[in-house]
Amino acid sequence: MSTVAVIGTQWGDEGKGKVVDILSESADYIVRFQGGNNAGHTVVIDGSKYVFHLLPSGILHDDKRCILGNGMVIDLEALSNEVDFVEKIGKGVDGRLFISERAHLIFPYHKELDAAAERRKGTSIGTTLKGIGPAYRDKAGRVGIRVADLEDIETFRHRLKENVEEKRLILKHVYGWEPDFDFERIFTSTLRIYERLRDYVCDTVSLLNREIDAGRRILFEGAQATLLDIDVGTYPFVTSSNASALGITTGAGVSPKKVKKIFGISKAYTTRVGGGPFPTELKDQMGELLRARGHEFGATTGRPRRCGWLDLFAVRFSKEVNDLDGIILTKLDVLDDFEKVNVCVGYTYEGEMIESFPSTYSMLSRVKPVYETLDGWRVKTTGIRSFDELPAEAKRFVEFIEDYLSIPVVMISMGPQRDEIIVRENLW
Ligand code: GDP
Ligand code: IMO
Ligand code: MG
Repeated sequence: MSTVAVIGTQWGDEGKGKVVDILSESADYIVRFQGGNNAGHTVVIDGSKYVFHLLPSGILHDDKRCILGNGMVIDLEALSNEVDFVEKIGKGVDGRLFISERAHLIFPYHKELDAAAERRKGTSIGTTLKGIGPAYRDKAGRVGIRVADLEDIETFRHRLKENVEEKRLILKHVYGWEPDFDFERIFTSTLRIYERLRDYVCDTVSLLNREIDAGRRILFEGAQATLLDIDVGTYPFVTSSNASALGITTGAGVSPKKVKKIFGISKAYTTRVGGGPFPTELKDQMGELLRARGHEFGATTGRPRRCGWLDLFAVRFSKEVNDLDGIILTKLDVLDDFEKVNVCVGYTYEGEMIESFPSTYSMLSRVKPVYETLDGWRVKTTGIRSFDELPAEAKRFVEFIEDYLSIPVVMISMGPQRDEIIVRENLW
């Protein structure tokens, strides 16, 4: 069995797109299993930048097959635009794009509900406003509309009508929001877009299980990250899906016995977009410097990302939850000019060191990070292709991470381009 997962260990934007693009070279299938177009995964090839929101980041490899799993929430218009884009740059998707018939759909009313809830709350989550939370709420509430429902026009008409009426009432009476959507408009435009994507829709659960059993190489691409996971993340400042490895089985429809290796991806520092506690956040010039050097602006919303030191205490929690086989470390080059580099190795709460990563908002927002200060390397690392060539202090930084987490750092990325990477281990 050859299945590998790449999962964010922080609050997203760790560089999953780049790493998945590289690993896709040796995969047969690349599978998204949760989330929707709240994700923004960047791939840079020969200086050209591509950002994927719904399509797996392996789509640029002509011969690779890409699956949008049942655990996703799909905005069909956004997906259709992405497919158009990929085709425009000469990459056909026919025969290699598979959309789960069980995936749920995002409609305009989900986006309005998202915006209305953000406007209403005292402390907003700072969502991407893509309608993710409301769509998952409908899924759990058993009123969601799935891709397969579009095959039966009368069922679709009926379910959409009920939803439109319900959402209108909620928006008007609960949120004081004037709805800007219309049943007929949604109905006709959804069916029109579906017609274009219909050939790609199938039972991805059976397909995937068959292909795993046949020994094909499957790469699971996490979106968001462990600390944004609805169950184990920093609730309520999370996304609405299981963005850790825990989501693979339900979101792709495969047994836990079928996920063989799981790698966690971490930046050499930490970022977060939107609200929520962030113990190592730097609100000073150092934070500004990280943002400027790391170009830390959202790939989906363009928002400036909050920046701070590497929080290994949080990453260790992710290691535990996902049972990681190794770490893929990215953006090491962003620290190239720093004289000293801080790494958080624990938290204190009311003056005492704590044992485990806090599960509550109130505690996590009051902890103080405990740092270990390492020497910086002050050498440009971009362009280095082997671990041995790294400056001694950068090696020390990597080894510090390995010692602390007790797992190897299997890849080190030092630039956005495909080849700006050190591969220390074959992940398959
Ligand atoms: P994702 O959501 O995890 O796929 O990450 P994003 O694409 O949202 O954000 C990562 C950003 O960092 C993108 O702009 C990448 O092109 C860039 N990037 C990835 N790896 C590296 C790296 O090692 N060094 C630098 N400087 N940039 C990187
Ligand atoms: P990738 O896959 C970083 C954050 C939002 C917000 C919270 C909930 O590119 O790493 P949502 O719209 O999902 O309801 O927003 O989650 N968020 C992300 N942050 N990277 C992402 O995706 C994110 N997707 C959602 O900023 O705080
Ligand atoms: Mg991103």
